[in-house]
Amino acid sequence: MKTDWYKNAVVYQIYPFSFCDANNDGWGDIEGIISKLDYVRDLGATAIWFSPLYKSPDKDYGYDISDYRAIDEKFGSMADFDRLLDECHKRGLKVIMDMVVNHSSTEHPWFKEAITSPDSPYRDYYIIRPGVREGDKLLPPTNWVSCFTGTAWERIGETDEFYLHLFCTEQADLNWENPKVRQEVVDILNFWLEKGVDGFRFDVFNLASKVYPLRDDTAKKTFQKGAQYFVDGPRMHEFLKELNEKALSHFDCYTVGESYRPSPENAREYVKAENKELDTIFNFAHLESDNINGLKFFRKPFDLVQFKDGLFGPQKANFGEGWNTLVLENHDNPRSVSRFSIDTKHYRYEAATMLAALTFMGFGIPFIYMGEEIGMTNSHFDSIDEMKDPVSHFVFDLMHSYGMPKRLAFSFIKFGARDHARVPMAWNGGTNGGFNAGHEPWQSLYTEYEKINAEKDLAAEKSVYRFYQKLLAIKKTNPAAIGGSVEEYDHDSKQIMAYSREYEGTRLFVVGNFSKRPVQYRLPGWTKYAETLLDNYGEFSAAVGTVTLRPYEAAVLEVKA
Ligand code: NOJ
Repeated sequence: MKTDWYKNAVVYQIYPFSFCDANNDGWGDIEGIISKLDYVRDLGATAIWFSPLYKSPDKDYGYDISDYRAIDEKFGSMADFDRLLDECHKRGLKVIMDMVVNHSSTEHPWFKEAITSPDSPYRDYYIIRPGVREGDKLLPPTNWVSCFTGTAWERIGETDEFYLHLFCTEQADLNWENPKVRQEVVDILNFWLEKGVDGFRFDVFNLASKVYPLRDDTAKKTFQKGAQYFVDGPRMHEFLKELNEKALSHFDCYTVGESYRPSPENAREYVKAENKELDTIFNFAHLESDNINGLKFFRKPFDLVQFKDGLFGPQKANFGEGWNTLVLENHDNPRSVSRFSIDTKHYRYEAATMLAALTFMGFGIPFIYMGEEIGMTNSHFDSIDEMKDPVSHFVFDLMHSYGMPKRLAFSFIKFGARDHARVPMAWNGGTNGGFNAGHEPWQSLYTEYEKINAEKDLAAEKSVYRFYQKLLAIKKTNPAAIGGSVEEYDHDSKQIMAYSREYEGTRLFVVGNFSKRPVQYRLPGWTKYAETLLDNYGEFSAAVGTVTLRPYEAAVLEVKA
């Protein structure tokens, strides 16, 4: 049943809240998405990953699901979804659903049952433990910390018991030790697969297995208390194999796992083809090159060598073993062109295209986040009140509670906020950036929409979208760009990133200048007879010897066998 369609796929991610609001109620919707499918297809995408469309009370904007088999009303109905699926397929676009099953919403009927009746079988669907009495205090069962700050345990009413939530309080962790929970997940996957969806993106999949019995984390050095007991847990590989046996392998289904800080060894095992666990996982290590230890709100000077290590590490590790993915943006990160010490004021087009060429010509499936293909920058938020993401608020409140002045705390939040990616997509310079017909959007508008929008980009001489079109056309068809081995050049350079891809004698050379100053670069001798396939200044001559790469200049050269 299973084919390799995903190996030369190009995935476009849609965050449904913010893509297009056809019924003008302030929320993006399925009708709006359908109206933009030609735009997505014409870009060169071959699949769409939809961030959750399911019923949700939106405490974490869709990542807290209260019914895994229902479409949330604000997006439309199941009939609308069926039409969306059909319209995607008609255009040759595969559909990848988000699957958030490490936790469910506390509004899910399972959870409601679990906490109201202590004898309910649903109690064992969650991780519920008695608190620890210390004098007249009732402490949480362990000292684990939520990925979203604060204790990972919430007391159940006035009882002595707590439930585990590794994210928001309203996202209760499911107990994967319980075979009934795993069967529920299998049934949910089969439900969507039978409808005809083509794949899943598993949210924080590698947190599903915990180390039992649960215990305090007493390690002195840890990035997060408890992580050693809930990241890459002992049954993780077994659980993934089970999902394959009982659901995924019966369909031509592609999977990508979003993992939370996996160890390099586990990361490799998850995607090793022979293991039959996942086809790919995301790699975000390079996105930590401008922040401190992956703490998104803490800026540090951009480190290109770290970016390269992060980006190429999995490409090298997985080559010949399993497949790979390539990511610059998603709904959890600020806009890439506003990062990495880039001068967007003068070189937004050059930098956006350079980042894309250097990242997506690597080994793996490009994942493009809506708006990235027109070089959308960060939005200029003026106050925390304009931000909707709970994480921005949690961290802001935490910083302030430690005495940090609000303005300073907000400057940290502005640097790393997920809200930058979640503002409505900028379609044109008109009312609400073309997101809808004028109703106030759920999230403040993209402040730059008059200057940066799809209509304007497409009409511009220097169009990021059109560059992406050319890049993706090469990426999907050139055998070296798809399956070629990767060799890095000049790894230690702090301005230049360069690598080759080689497949059956055809070689590509990908090179780019990450700085706003011209840099002299000596091309490898074998590029002497190369043809330029792509460049962002439109005049790269595949010259022999030393070339001067202009600010953010990038080129892809090819030498045929
Ligand atoms: C990862 C998702 O990408 C993020 O948006 C969400 O907040 C967490 N998982 C929790 O589901």
